[in-house]
Amino acid sequence: MIYYFSGTGNSKWVAEKIAEKTGDTLVNVAGYINNNEVSITVRKEETAGFVFPVYAWAVPDFFMKFIRSIKIEEGAFCFAVCTCGDEAGLSMKKLAKEINLNSAYSIRMPNSYIIGYDVDTAQDTAKKIDAAKIKLEALSEDVMSRKAVWDVFEGSNAFLKSSVASVMFNKFGKNTKPFSVDGTCISCGLCERICPTHNINLKEGMPVWGDDCLMCLACINRCPEKSIQYGNSTRNKGRYYFKEQEG
Ligand SMILES: Cc1cc2nc3c(=O)[nH]c(=O)nc-3n(C[C@H](O)[C@H](O)[C@H](O)COP(=O)(O)O)c2cc1C
Repeated sequence: MIYYFSGTGNSKWVAEKIAEKTGDTLVNVAGYINNNEVSITVRKEETAGFVFPVYAWAVPDFFMKFIRSIKIEEGAFCFAVCTCGDEAGLSMKKLAKEINLNSAYSIRMPNSYIIGYDVDTAQDTAKKIDAAKIKLEALSEDVMSRKAVWDVFEGSNAFLKSSVASVMFNKFGKNTKPFSVDGTCISCGLCERICPTHNINLKEGMPVWGDDCLMCLACINRCPEKSIQYGNSTRNKGRYYFKEQEG
């Protein structure tokens, strides 16, 4: 089984690529968010993969909660793959404190955090995806042969980022008040349909955000009219979600 979460498609694509090779079944962890009755056991002869995006140099809170809630028998082979714009920080080391992690990888993918940075250029996007394809081939082979590998790019000042910045993000970074929609909204309802926590509801045709937000930024990045903003920080920036590259 490969358990994954993805806001803007990078981690979903990564999970699918691995599963294509290994024949594993994919399970979208979005279905388990806010579900306290998770009864999953990974048996000792099984392999379990965990694929997720890095949020503020850490494993997203809800994903960590999901991992903590499943039972993993001793002897099972567990691997984790995080996707990140650049740096994974100490996310994998923190995950390895929770479960017996045999292998860990980070994969650089296009940036989705448009509140902080702009999207990658088309050239950088293509480069990252090409490099990821090569890495995923080798990674899938490793998984199939149950080879233990630790291939994680933590980046600079990882300790500081994965402690202070991560705590700040979880405390203050998930505020939905700055989300707004402008007059170009066509009331298509895509944001409402794709929100993994069902936190968006259309009222008189316009999206309204509740408080249960993961900050995956699927809504803002996928809006076909670019009608959604987050304060002033997204106004002159691009939008990103994973699309298969041509050629
Ligand atoms: C809230 C948030 C925080 C992020 N923090 C980081 C980070 O600390 N380091 C990093 O390299 N990328 C960071 N990113 C970028 C994503 O990790 C990256 O684009 C990832 O591949 C998105 O995966 P997805 O498309 O499956 O949602 C962040 C993105 C979001 C939305």
